Amino acid sequence: MKEKRSLITCALPYANGPVHIGHLAGVYVPADIYVRYKRLRGEDVLFICGSDEHGVPITIKAREQGCTPQDIVDRYHKIIKDSFARLGINFDIYSRTSSQVHEKTASDFFRKLYDEGKFITKETEQFYDVQEKTFLADRYITGTCPRCGNPDAYGDQCEKCGATLSPEELINPKSKLSGGELVKKKTSHWYLPLDRYEGWLGRWILTDHKEWRSNVYGQCKSWIDGGLQPRAVSRDLDWGVPVPVEGAEGKVLYVWFDAPIGYISNTKELLPNSWKTWWQDTSTRLIHFIGKDNIVFHCIVFPSMLKAHGDYILPDNVPANEFLNLEGDKISTSRGWAVWAHEYLDELPGREDVLRYVLTANAPETKDNDFSWKDLQTRNNSELVAIFGNFVNRALVLAHKYFGGRVPALGTLTAMDREALDEIPALKASLEKNLEEFKFREALKDALGIARVGNKYISDTEPWKVAKTDMARCATILNVSLQICADLAIAFEAFTPFSAERLRAMLNVGLEAGFDHRKGEQETENTFREGECAALHTLPMGASLAADGLVLRWDDLGRDTILPEGHTLAEPTLLFTKIEDEVIDAQLQKLEAIRQARQAAEALKAAPQKEECTFEEFEKMDIRTATVLAAERVPKTDKLLKLTIDTGIDKRVIVSGIAEYYTPEQMLGRQICILANLKSRVIRGIESKGMILMAKQGDGKMRFVTPEETVVNGAQIG
Ligand code: 2FM
Ligand code: ZN
Repeated sequence: MKEKRSLITCALPYANGPVHIGHLAGVYVPADIYVRYKRLRGEDVLFICGSDEHGVPITIKAREQGCTPQDIVDRYHKIIKDSFARLGINFDIYSRTSSQVHEKTASDFFRKLYDEGKFITKETEQFYDVQEKTFLADRYITGTCPRCGNPDAYGDQCEKCGATLSPEELINPKSKLSGGELVKKKTSHWYLPLDRYEGWLGRWILTDHKEWRSNVYGQCKSWIDGGLQPRAVSRDLDWGVPVPVEGAEGKVLYVWFDAPIGYISNTKELLPNSWKTWWQDTSTRLIHFIGKDNIVFHCIVFPSMLKAHGDYILPDNVPANEFLNLEGDKISTSRGWAVWAHEYLDELPGREDVLRYVLTANAPETKDNDFSWKDLQTRNNSELVAIFGNFVNRALVLAHKYFGGRVPALGTLTAMDREALDEIPALKASLEKNLEEFKFREALKDALGIARVGNKYISDTEPWKVAKTDMARCATILNVSLQICADLAIAFEAFTPFSAERLRAMLNVGLEAGFDHRKGEQETENTFREGECAALHTLPMGASLAADGLVLRWDDLGRDTILPEGHTLAEPTLLFTKIEDEVIDAQLQKLEAIRQARQAAEALKAAPQKEECTFEEFEKMDIRTATVLAAERVPKTDKLLKLTIDTGIDKRVIVSGIAEYYTPEQMLGRQICILANLKSRVIRGIESKGMILMAKQGDGKMRFVTPEETVVNGAQIG
């Protein structure tokens, strides 16, 4: 083992949906950058993640889709794991909280605290669905929001006004499962008395960890200052880790109790022989990458659990990010307002690094930030292509043109050469400082700064002109340029690993990074194996060697001579290519369609129910099936069609305002439903007898109401 050891974890994503750019920008991309950087520095790093497969939302989704919770988590675990691998986010293990190792680890953890009297028990009254014979989690209870009157508020939150609620506050609470009335019933649960840890937490965070990000520190302070309450660590539910206590049938560990223990279980699964070094040796630095909604669990609740247990180290830092918005609007899984990782990867193939780059450049580190497709296009075209790619391409193409693809000789350096080369160590120092301090946006600017130096240098020195008169000087310029390319191949490894690797291939060099701590341990189905993960052959399995054995190291960055004179280069290819308007427009159209569908759904939802009517009133309406015999546009109108129909009782004309949605040809032969006894009206000089029944969406779109199968005309509906 090396001296510096860091255990890096990423929030375990819920396996009830794919990951989107908000997750990537907030948690996974910065964590991967940090891990890659640490490995480049030769530090020993373990990178742990996995799916969070318990909790009520997963059971709700399963019910909605008529399948089991296991089906749901199996589906999304695969999609999520695959997206991470395709983006080069190289966890050492991506396991799941439904694994056996996890069940045992979480169960043992609970049992130790239980045996040592670290919990308290409380009996409370909770809502119970008599019909379904089950206690209901807050999410399973709906009712009217006491703040805004939304009739569909949940027992924990109103999604319309954002209020945090308790089920007791809902007006007219109902079961989401059966739709029926609820009763209150007594149940007992185990609670972690956080109040007992308040003094210790205050010292540990507020005094000893003043260096934590201000958003994290601030949230912790307000929790601690507000006074901590005991938190229930069990639930009445049939999906999760069973509470390992006699008489606790029908109870499972609360998902936020078992999920963070998943970090430990996944380490154990990966390294059954040496996991304790990572969790129990105080020289290990534990760092949790999370989003801001997880701060309380990672800074207050989980550390209190670890402290109560006594065998584990505590987090050294928790660099939580704020949220990323999409085109100015909050990302929302339920409203479908997101760019999903797997869709991006399918629709913009080969542009993994562009997304990583843009999400880092716009990382929501100190405040919420925005992702827009236009910005992605601009950053790609005017930064990655025009600065980084352009410089590398010019240096390599000219080295091939004038020096047969070999690094040319370095002559006497001019002031201009010296100036360019001297800028790199300063940028490197800033890059290191920013990465150590989790300031990834600033760090990326430093890396791009190196490309800017190179691009300016090659433009100012114009080796293509110098070549006409002074080949020795041209050689020096290209030597310096190629050294800067090598700097870039190191500096960008953490940010854009696919491109950095392609650049190293063009420079015909390898990279020393990583440490194979899996030696002597067996692989499991959840560990990434060679070939399974796109970038694994570079990281973390140790040095990758170039054909002639030249291997770059982090310490080479900023050295005047990284590539020796005469070193053979490979053929250059373009590192980045322009993103055309069509690609961006297609994505914007996709979002526009989501926005419109949402507006339609909202408009429809907003339509209030009409006044009550009696059965007798309804009976007055004569609704029947009919078939369209002929159809034509009503002259000089855009909206009206004149339809001749067979109602089974007669043949008649109905004028209908559907011409925007249906052509006369589409109407012929169609079976429809009509209100037959509507008082006749004259429309544009035509007598219309009856009305066609249509389903109207909130966006105004209309669809016919038709029988499931063709029936005789004149069949009565009611
Ligand atoms: O917020 C979330 O997506 C949670 N699934 C994060 C869990 S992190 C850890 F505790 F496992
Ligand atoms: Zn509300």
